[in-house]
Amino acid sequence: MVDRETLPGDSRTAGGVPPYRPLFNRSLDRIWDFVEARAGTSRWELRPQPDFTFNPSYWTGAFVANAFLVQVVTGLLLLFYYIPSVSLNSLGQPEAWASTYYIVHVVPMGWLLLTSHLYGAYAVFFLGFVHYFRGFYTGVYKRPRELSWMVGTILLVAMLGMGFTGYLLPFTALSVGATDVGISLTLSIPTLGQLTAPLLLADGTYQGLLSRMFAAHVVLIPLALAALLYAHVSLFEIHGIAPRATSDPRAKRNFSKEHDDPKLGKWFPKVFFYMTKWGILYAGLLFLIAAAFPWTLPPYFGSTSAAAATPEPDWYFLWLYKLIDFQYVSPLVAVGTVTVVLLFTLFLPWIDRPPLFTWKTHPRDRPVFLFLANFLVAFFILMTVWGGIMPGVLIPATMYGLYLGMIALVNVLLISLLYWRYRVDYNQRLAARRLRKGQGTSPGGSPVRPASSVRRAPAPASPPMPSAAPPAQEAPLHG
Ligand code: HEM
Repeated sequence: MVDRETLPGDSRTAGGVPPYRPLFNRSLDRIWDFVEARAGTSRWELRPQPDFTFNPSYWTGAFVANAFLVQVVTGLLLLFYYIPSVSLNSLGQPEAWASTYYIVHVVPMGWLLLTSHLYGAYAVFFLGFVHYFRGFYTGVYKRPRELSWMVGTILLVAMLGMGFTGYLLPFTALSVGATDVGISLTLSIPTLGQLTAPLLLADGTYQGLLSRMFAAHVVLIPLALAALLYAHVSLFEIHGIAPRATSDPRAKRNFSKEHDDPKLGKWFPKVFFYMTKWGILYAGLLFLIAAAFPWTLPPYFGSTSAAAATPEPDWYFLWLYKLIDFQYVSPLVAVGTVTVVLLFTLFLPWIDRPPLFTWKTHPRDRPVFLFLANFLVAFFILMTVWGGIMPGVLIPATMYGLYLGMIALVNVLLISLLYWRYRVDYNQRLAARRLRKGQGTSPGGSPVRPASSVRRAPAPASPPMPSAAPPAQEAPLHG
């Protein structure tokens, strides 16, 4: 067998760039070697990752990025056929709707393409929410990842913008109605509404609106998303993956990024193929589900059969859409609530930290944020279900008060109980440890001073990280 690393001309062993394992076979390795010698591809490698991170829960962001990539591909293919025009064709149908109809019924596999793009958007939102809440629960936003979190929040808003602008494009009665609701919500914001009105509405015609939404969906927001994603991944490159959530407030928050560290899995091929595996699985599942449940195009805006339809957005906007059906909740209050949640999310890294809270990241040590995350998840699910089963139906204050109150109460009770149990158990273990230490004596005969262990060493309740700093020292911020 040929030892791939000793082949003549292997530039990867030179200049401090680490050697790599054989890839496929000798011929393919030679081609790779050729490319490497000329393009220095190994220098493009992203940072290596600790072995324990090869677990899907650490890669939720990469799953969103992967789903987003599939959206770009399917979206570009759809661009070949879609016509962003409200002019009526010879059958009296708007061109935008008719071209969508053409994609679904005439273009070979067009129905699969469009359904995949639509379900792919659902997947991006679902995975995005998972990524967001995973970060919320495990405190990944704490130093030094504050900026990653802030850029992520803006990414989330941009993603919602993609959903909003894309929804109008087929120009169905449903999508026009829901976009009208969204736009009137935006216009209800004082000052900002007036400022954005000309941008959104253009000349006040539906053609103007469609052109703006189309430009935003295929050029403007994707460009912003690409720039934000670049910043997000660059920050990830700087800090590396966030370690496990821990009860140790001084736990090291970065890992080594030395490419020759034996404890790390190299980005290529290990991380790359790990991601590729999940990426292929995702695309396969998406196409399978799209093939099993093809999307049907609703009637176009202006058709007689669409007159009775209640305007309804996609599920990921139902929560907001339902909020304006709440008794006493004006559009302004609804938009205000969403703005407060967004600002809270944006500045969360500066709220959940000392002096008010802790540097610990484990949810069991952060009951307030555990409560908030649970409440947000439950609120989102409740709104989405109500939006789905009761579109346009007014929700009386007594009803939403009762449901939201129940959610808050059950959460407070459960979390208080669990937190109390955890603290009792923790204090017992701490007392036992103090006792053990107090029984020992120093060489001079005086008892070993237990206080230091009390002040600085609540035993890490989770297993120590591979490169965690020694407990007696302040952990450096950067690994
Ligand atoms: C389009 C949406 C997003 C994409 C494509 C994306 C992508 C990524 C990727 C690829 C990573 C690397 C680690 C991983 O795979 O988890 C990451 C990490 C991270 N993301 Fe996102 N992200 C998005 C949205 C968000 C949002 C909404 C937030 C939070 C508000 C956020 C906060 C973070 C943080 C704090 C990290 C570092 C976590 C760690 O090191 O484990 N991201 N993101």
